[in-house]
Amino acid sequence: MNESLVSRTDSHEQLLAVTDLPALPVVCLVDDEENNLFLFQRSLKPFGYELRSFRDGQELLEALGAGLMPDLVVSDVMMPKVNGYQVCEYLKSDPVLSKVPVVLVTGLNEIKDKVRGLEAGADDFLHKPFHPLELRARVKSLLRIKSQSDQLETQNRLLADTNLLLEERVRQRTTELEELTIGLTAALERANKMNDEDTGNHIKRVCHFSELFARGISLEPATVVRIGRYASLHDVGKVGITDAILKKPGGLTPPEWEEMKRHTIYGYELLRVAGADRIAQNIALCHHEKFDGTGYPYGLRGEQIPIEARIVALADVYDALTNKRCYKEAYSEDRAENIIRASAGKHFDPELVQTLFDHHAEVKAIKDAYRDDIKLVDEFVSMDTPPAHLLARISASSPLPGPRALRPDSDVDRTG
Ligand SMILES: [Fe+2]
Repeated sequence: MNESLVSRTDSHEQLLAVTDLPALPVVCLVDDEENNLFLFQRSLKPFGYELRSFRDGQELLEALGAGLMPDLVVSDVMMPKVNGYQVCEYLKSDPVLSKVPVVLVTGLNEIKDKVRGLEAGADDFLHKPFHPLELRARVKSLLRIKSQSDQLETQNRLLADTNLLLEERVRQRTTELEELTIGLTAALERANKMNDEDTGNHIKRVCHFSELFARGISLEPATVVRIGRYASLHDVGKVGITDAILKKPGGLTPPEWEEMKRHTIYGYELLRVAGADRIAQNIALCHHEKFDGTGYPYGLRGEQIPIEARIVALADVYDALTNKRCYKEAYSEDRAENIIRASAGKHFDPELVQTLFDHHAEVKAIKDAYRDDIKLVDEFVSMDTPPAHLLARISASSPLPGPRALRPDSDVDRTG
């Protein structure tokens, strides 16, 4: 404890008044009578406040205009130029100063005078002649309330700032994740096309059908976009299935079929480890589940199956039925639609089947736009010419030596 402080303050109450408050509160005293100002000063001086005296309301308003920020105002009511009510009204109408408590000191005892003060925004009243102890008590109480209110406001502001910061970080992270997943999707799509007999057009159709069905059942627009985007990854797990099974004409043996089913698990694992969007993971894992619980890998039923997987299941099968596969010819549109209709509530979510038929024209437009006989522009890098960014490096240094010999030049080449 600071001894000089103790020696300056000789009562417990005075000590508390100093130590309770971290900084000296600024208390403005306003009165046109010197004697009253002196009495205010003498009553409050020992309590560790920064006291500022003003001889009328006008003087105070000028100081406020110049940037003074009080913690409390004790003001006489009857003063020339600007009276105590006007001081009150000025403070309470200013957004920055409105929380500054005002004690009106008045010799008027009529109820109408008190009402006028309350209407002006006064926080407390003191009647002349007042006792110094009463003034101290009111000042102390109002300052404590203001201090708590200020702390609360600061905490709320900090909280709001922290929330804004966190929201911004989440937004940034979400964008990064989305960009990463889009890049990953493109790479996996490419890997899928290299390995599978499914054409790029099949993948495009499944994506567009999926987006159409998702919109048809009024999913959130952002979810519709994600489902349309990640539908392309439904069979990504086929990279783990051997060509002997994947491209086998006709039927599969039971063990081959069991292995084939595992593409759902492989796809899910691949996307999970890559940190891809949960919708992409669910599509890969559950697109062979059936609405009546007879699908694989888990035999989920109804709404146990994520909606994105139910959507892609319908889109994928509908497209497979109406197009040629290594194990079957393309079915006519009528035959395919009859199969789909008969499978509502069994293989497929009936609401989605209804959506397919409700949007028949759009389904047909997608099929026309992505027919298998329409070749998609392929962006694979050529073996003959390096990509543009390498060509720039080559021309900047030395000319291209020509196509490389196919035979490895050394054992090092064989290890590549
Ligand atoms: Fe599949």
